[in-house]
Amino acid sequence: MKFSLSHSVSNHPDLTIVPVAKNESSDQVYSAISAITQIPYDLIKADFNAELKEVHALYFTEDGKIKRILLLGLGKNPGVNEVSNAFRSFVFKRKSNFNGTLGISFIYKNAPSDPSGWVESAVTGFLLGKYDIGLYKTEKNGEEKPYDEIEKIDIFATKENGGDVRTAMQKGQSLAETQLEIFDLVNAPSNKKNPQTLANWALQSGEKYGYVVKVFNKTEIESLGLHALLAVNQGSENPPTFIVMEYKPSGKSVKKVGLVGKGVTFDTGGLSIKPSTNMHYMKSDMGGAAAVMGTMEMAAKLKLPIHLIGVVPATDNSVDGKSVKPGDVIGSYDGKSIEVIDTDAEGRLILADGLAYVAQQFKPEILIDLATLTGSCIRTLGTYAGGLFTNNDDLASQLLEAGQQAGERLWQLPIWDDYKREIKSDVADVKNFSGIPSAGAITAAKFLEVFIQDHPAWAHLDIAGVAVSDSEFSSHKSATAFGVKLLIGYLENLIQAEKL
Ligand code: BES
Ligand code: MN
Ligand code: ZN
Repeated sequence: MKFSLSHSVSNHPDLTIVPVAKNESSDQVYSAISAITQIPYDLIKADFNAELKEVHALYFTEDGKIKRILLLGLGKNPGVNEVSNAFRSFVFKRKSNFNGTLGISFIYKNAPSDPSGWVESAVTGFLLGKYDIGLYKTEKNGEEKPYDEIEKIDIFATKENGGDVRTAMQKGQSLAETQLEIFDLVNAPSNKKNPQTLANWALQSGEKYGYVVKVFNKTEIESLGLHALLAVNQGSENPPTFIVMEYKPSGKSVKKVGLVGKGVTFDTGGLSIKPSTNMHYMKSDMGGAAAVMGTMEMAAKLKLPIHLIGVVPATDNSVDGKSVKPGDVIGSYDGKSIEVIDTDAEGRLILADGLAYVAQQFKPEILIDLATLTGSCIRTLGTYAGGLFTNNDDLASQLLEAGQQAGERLWQLPIWDDYKREIKSDVADVKNFSGIPSAGAITAAKFLEVFIQDHPAWAHLDIAGVAVSDSEFSSHKSATAFGVKLLIGYLENLIQAEKL
């Protein structure tokens, strides 16, 4: 699908979508639309309230042809999420095919004077609306995918609005294409997705967009000494992979940033087995890995002047005679010994190796990990924000800001040293769980901190509550690609700050 930009409408497409925010200037849209359609202003205003996702169809004749304008409500003060979701919902709900000409118009004064943010989100939302979660359905129930036959969508935005609308349009599309791939990865069931699947995805993406991907297999993982990853993998049929991605810009680089993502392709809990309710969601316990992989791909696509390293330790966490047992003491890449109190606290074990490896081998200026790490974080923040844990105040404010901008909110929790005693082990250097069900998200972060090699600018994002979520787009929780837009926004802000 192609998007093309026009600065004025001479002849309307068969269908024009007009997003409308609910504010003082909504009326100006209605008068403009009234002038085009000859439908009285009062009637338009009586039937449409610009509530979020409200749709109102208007018909008119132009050059002897019947045409449609669909007003799409955005609600009050729409942010990127509202714009994107309004479009996603709109496309998602259309079940009948459409093969006329299609446009989206931002030329009315109700859009921001720089409409590029709206345009980017609208394009992203539109494309995400076409997402088909029913990959394994043998019959499609006669449900047609709308807009599939459309090759081109016209975006109308006036010139004097400034802003780089064309770039926004391309970025919105590029982001959606990567997010759609991330949806597929995160939603895939564990019998269709193992550590090698993640590795293959990275290899293909690297090949396609020009960044280097090295996948270490089990034997190589053994010689590297990634003992914590190996311990989690002990009970698995599938060997682990350790995926190292590196994107270097061709010109100068503003910063070197290291990313680590938790790649647990299924988390049964191991011998500390999980209850069966909701265990199926543990197919998505690689949301952190997916966010890192998506960010690598986007950074390479956008050719950001950032030296980016992405590392994904990947394994499943399974039950077997060979599984690691509660009380076992294991090693780690860093050299520290770990007492495994609970085999279900496996994410922090593989991240320990990933973090220590990136810190040692690449010495990035900024170190960020993402993981669906704790149920505790979900109990704390619900599904409305990811948890942010960091030892650096600048990094904290930059990530909070980027999250706000991206509509992928974070909320900071403390990592005071008081919590350290919770992971003090009698027999080893550290234990992976306190045994006490309190402040679980914080103690998990404190555990990770042990392995960052004293890095001065590290952040941990616990995305357990946000990597998958309830929505109108599926009956169960499904992937959100949380983290990609946030991290890309964060990197772009770093670049912007360097330019000033
Ligand atoms: N993958 C889970 C965390 C999780 C739970 C993610 C629910 C998404 C939804 C993680 O590996 C885990 O099991 N954490 C335990 C840690 C505990 C045993 C210390 C938890 O949070 O209960
Ligand atoms: Mn677990
Ligand atoms: Zn897990």
